[in-house]
Amino acid sequence: MPLIDQETVRKILDTADIVEVVSDFVKLRRSGANYIGLCPFHNERTPSFSVSKARGICKCFSCGKGGSPVGFIMEHEQLSYAEALKWLANKYNIEIKERELTPEERAASTERESMLALNEFALNFFERTLTDSDEGRAVGMSYFRNRGLTDAAIKRFRLGFAPEQRDALSSEALAKGYSEKLLADTGLCSRTDRGTLYDRFRGRVMFPVFTLSGKVVAFGGRTLKTSKEVAKYVNSPESVIYHKSNELYGLYQAKREIVKKNKCILVEGYMDVISMSQRGVENVVASSGTSLTEGQIALIHRFTPNVTVIYDSDAAGIKASLRGIDMLLAQGMNIKVMLLPEGDDPDSFAKSHSLEEIEEYFRQHETDFIRFKTRILLNDLADNDPVARAGVINSIARSISVIPDRVIRSEYIKECSRLMATDEEIVTLQVAKYANENAAGRKSVTDRREAAAEQPEAETVRDATVATRASGRSSVDKSAYLRPSELEVVRLMARYGLLAVAETVNADGETADYSVTDYVVNEFADDEIRLTNHDLEKVYMAVQAAAANWGGELPAIELRADEMCAQMRAEAHDSIAAAGTMDAIRRKEEELEEAVAEARKRFICDAAERYLTATLGADPDPDVRRLATSFASEKYVLSKIHTKNAHIPTEREMLIQRAPRAVNGLKIATLQWREKEMRARLASLSGQEAADALARLQEIRAVISSLARYLGERIVLPR
Ligand code: CTP
Ligand code: MN
Repeated sequence: MPLIDQETVRKILDTADIVEVVSDFVKLRRSGANYIGLCPFHNERTPSFSVSKARGICKCFSCGKGGSPVGFIMEHEQLSYAEALKWLANKYNIEIKERELTPEERAASTERESMLALNEFALNFFERTLTDSDEGRAVGMSYFRNRGLTDAAIKRFRLGFAPEQRDALSSEALAKGYSEKLLADTGLCSRTDRGTLYDRFRGRVMFPVFTLSGKVVAFGGRTLKTSKEVAKYVNSPESVIYHKSNELYGLYQAKREIVKKNKCILVEGYMDVISMSQRGVENVVASSGTSLTEGQIALIHRFTPNVTVIYDSDAAGIKASLRGIDMLLAQGMNIKVMLLPEGDDPDSFAKSHSLEEIEEYFRQHETDFIRFKTRILLNDLADNDPVARAGVINSIARSISVIPDRVIRSEYIKECSRLMATDEEIVTLQVAKYANENAAGRKSVTDRREAAAEQPEAETVRDATVATRASGRSSVDKSAYLRPSELEVVRLMARYGLLAVAETVNADGETADYSVTDYVVNEFADDEIRLTNHDLEKVYMAVQAAAANWGGELPAIELRADEMCAQMRAEAHDSIAAAGTMDAIRRKEEELEEAVAEARKRFICDAAERYLTATLGADPDPDVRRLATSFASEKYVLSKIHTKNAHIPTEREMLIQRAPRAVNGLKIATLQWREKEMRARLASLSGQEAADALARLQEIRAVISSLARYLGERIVLPR
């Protein structure tokens, strides 16, 4: 993906109008200051999808999805950040200036691009051959018809046909100017021993494999012959553009539905995907007959953590695949398993059942993976074979040990111990042992940091039984404890970070705004505070980056504010002149200037808030986008009576109290956590050690209460 220069990014973000962008996909109607419509991310009958033109964001108040224009497009079209920018640039006819590539980059990218172009050509050739040639219709199309495929499904998956003739594709491609080298590099052709080129796919129906963004990187061709001599499937070889382990068949077509259903169904083959999809189960992808790779798991995980693996009932494959599934668990995914009725595969099952029947079958037969595995292994167990039994317990414990979430792990330990009629403690010990090994393995490979973070969890075997009791001390618990306080600080920053919390006066008597961001950053630096929640910390960093850029935006905005002020004065001119006496005129002029100053300030504050929301809402990091959008879309509903009669100060007007209160709140929470830790430790101390600890505890408490007294009452300006 070529890099887009910063200026163009800015231009795209400035131009994209949230109402226009959303309107491409959702029918909106006006509702007060906002627009509303039916949420495109989940099924609903009454609209809860709200679009705010002023804030430049949209959000579903039911499912929570939404964001800035870029965020919305990323979510809706399932694109990457850069792809979404391109999408918007295209919509608004903004020319994308790409960064100058190095010569190596350019060579690599032209090679890739030529290969993709040839594949695109081949895709069209196979499709055309299927529908327009006699051979394609008689052989290919009638085969698809026999297997019950509809035209819509054939189109959706872009199925095609490769004729028998050994140079059918290559002769056309060469005539179109594609080189022999490209034909060989993409794998569309092979070479004979003597070096002559011939088509790899002959007399086969063709299944193109698409990347997430819809580029054809490979083909699978199925023979129509029943002879055992002929390979059933011929596939494109690995190439510069095709890494089998990083693609999943059908994901391009399924991604939107996977997000909508928040679930991905995993099957084995091309036909399984197409038949299910044709029947209306569209969130289906295939691993193409091989076991899942980590790259493929990561692909699915971008869209959902929930995966259901469908197995044919011919049990041979099941056991072999059990281990592969541990990998899914290790990524923190929720795995369910479903067995089809005897003799069915997803393809035949989809064809012989209605959508309702299929959904009902899912409801009844989807089983949690670990439970499923336990049952399968137990079924095979000969009575009273203690060694085999131990093997089963170990195997289950191994599966449980890779699950990242401690709570879920302990639930499984309980349940599986019961299923296996084994002591819970024994399973706990085994799980801890494997967890330890896993962590050690990880450490020696790549992710030292992650392993270190898990260390307190992965206790030694001896400590395993006290693990639950000691859990109050892990860093995970600390960040959970501090989260509400950290969230409040970061929320204020993300919304009002560019606004002034106070004015500072320097030695020359000049005033300057002291922004919320400056305030928080200074406070954090003084007290060496670090956010413990990683996602919040990312927002914290992003706000600082945006604040640094804000200075560059300000002059243009001040210019617009000045124009607005001039207009206010011009409009008031007549009424002031009509006031009659000189005194009345002067009074009116003063009032006007006050109103102008007020309006100017509000104008700039609005712009600052919008800028920050838009910038964070378009951040490349999904966590930042998600949090920023949820902060910006909070609703403050004031009752009509109040708003009519009295001025209720908005949060923005109260920053001078809110910001210090939030920061102090975090300081207090941090100390309270330390207090809790000290207290826990105190129980195991005695003598002088205990006395020292007690003294420290008292100090902590004193600081807490002095902080609490100042809560929201003063703000310490930097020197
Ligand atoms: N596969 C492959 N190469 C092979 C065999 C299988 O790539 N030589 C992959 C294909 O993606 C295939 C899947 O493994 O779709 C499952 O294989 P299989 O069950 O043999 O094929 P089906 O797709 O079920 O084909 P059909 O129903 O047409 O027999
Ligand atoms: Mn099949």
